[in-house]
Amino acid sequence: MIATSPYVLTEMLEHHTLLITINRPDKLNALNRKTIDDLHEVLVEAEQNKEVRCLIIKGAGEKAFVAGADIAEFAHYSVEEGKQMSAHGHFKIFNFLENYSKPTIAAIHGFALGGGLELALACHIRVATTASKLGFPEVGLGVIPGYGGTQRLAHLVGKGKAFEMILTGNMIDANDGYKWGLINHVVAPQELISKCLELAKSISTKSPTAIAAAIRAINAGYNPQLNGYEVEIEEFGKSFGTEDFKEGVGAFLEKRKPNFQGN
Ligand code: COA
Repeated sequence: MIATSPYVLTEMLEHHTLLITINRPDKLNALNRKTIDDLHEVLVEAEQNKEVRCLIIKGAGEKAFVAGADIAEFAHYSVEEGKQMSAHGHFKIFNFLENYSKPTIAAIHGFALGGGLELALACHIRVATTASKLGFPEVGLGVIPGYGGTQRLAHLVGKGKAFEMILTGNMIDANDGYKWGLINHVVAPQELISKCLELAKSISTKSPTAIAAAIRAINAGYNPQLNGYEVEIEEFGKSFGTEDFKEGVGAFLEKRKPNFQGN
């Protein structure tokens, strides 16, 4: 059983999938510091739990995935506090999620704005609905995206579209997000979780050690301090030393389905 807090609910679903719900619906699930800290604790625990092979993150209520960082909380921050807020978020959630060893899927319904869109961008896969609205309204508040949005958005959609979204603050719908490469799948609102579970089902039958290695290799290519090709060579080689590799190749040769243990 994974810990649950008032702001972050957890539920184990089929296919070794943990559903995490950001639970502040009266504030459109805005991310205050407590939510960030509680989410971090859940992520740490889920990473250590072998039963969990995939995460789905969604927002509570009908209106929003997450409508951003909590504006009321940061309204009176100083320069130092603003910097600390951004660094704390990067460390506890956004970089942490991007480098998470298990696949993470953002299930986006309604608004995904500011820190909410950044939360989705930090996940490995994004599924949205025909009712989703995505945007970076920060410049309208006199700030900029501070949880990785200026970097991860450009990585996904290119510099031109990232400039447009961040400089205008305009929202786009999920179909435009899909065309731009921001969203992996657009579904009807009632199909959101089932679509995420369909992806989770594929993930859950594969080797957890290989999946973790693939995440490290893909991310290395976006890290200026690393050479993605070299990391790929290392990770490829290391996979030959895993039990999962023996199981995967053995199962193929024996014409049976593999049963990966993640070792
Ligand atoms: N931080 C803190 N509170 C927020 C919030 C945020 N990012 N987004 C919404 N809320 C709160 C509202 O203040 C309101 O609280 P209240 O009922 O106590 O007044 C509640 O959530 C519902 O929001 P409301 O604005 O009444 O809903 P709406 O349907 O009229 O508008 C939005 C929806 C998303 C357009 C609007 O809430 C909004 O613009 N939110 C801020 C988005 C933003 O700028 N995010 C980036 C932050 S850096």
